[in-house]
Amino acid sequence: MKRLIAPSILAADFNHLHDDIMMVNESDADWIHFDVMDGVFVPNISFGIPVIEHVKKIAEKPLDVHLMIVEPHKYLETFKEAGASTLNVHYEACTHLHRTVHQIKELGMKAAVTLNPHTSVFLLNDIITDVDMVLIMSVNPGYGGQKFIDNSYSRIKDLKELIVKKNSSALIEVDGGVDLNNAGKLYEAGVDVLVAGTTIFDSENPKQTISDLKNSK
Ligand code: DX5
Ligand code: ZN
Repeated sequence: MKRLIAPSILAADFNHLHDDIMMVNESDADWIHFDVMDGVFVPNISFGIPVIEHVKKIAEKPLDVHLMIVEPHKYLETFKEAGASTLNVHYEACTHLHRTVHQIKELGMKAAVTLNPHTSVFLLNDIITDVDMVLIMSVNPGYGGQKFIDNSYSRIKDLKELIVKKNSSALIEVDGGVDLNNAGKLYEAGVDVLVAGTTIFDSENPKQTISDLKNSK
């Protein structure tokens, strides 16, 4: 288990995005998480390629890009060029997931598959050894600041068992409603990477909150 933190800039102050990225650069955060929403796959529209390209110029941490869009396979190269290190595609949005995962890897990015809260982790049985990471959504995607779904713990446990059983090296990332009360428990359950938006950017001292999340018991 790695105990990585990926602040989600969906919750950053877009009038002072530069300052927020500098804060992340100076913090104990490991990656920067980007939530790209298209208003079709999820009922919200966020930001896209130009924002990622601009942040890439000043970011000192790898960019973890979470695509909440339909037909993500059409944009793999575009997100690579924009600066993504890890590309998360939703299981529910990929008809040819095996091909998409391998294309992401061939482009030199880490390939992650994201599961909505209703999607069984056992559906990954035949792809788990091909992926670098699985992202478990612990809220229904589309918005920051939602309540953590408690059933996520049993999904993490099942996923961990699948990873061990299949001898996969996939990391487990969790996204949505992560806070100082559940971070320690999530790491304990086998999570390697925690995404957190509101908890970090709405706190009095975001840099300290990043360290606190990382060191949560
Ligand atoms: C939800 C996004 C999350 C979101 C997390 O659709 O995928 O990454 O930014 O926000 P918080 O941490 O506020 O729940
Ligand atoms: Zn996300």
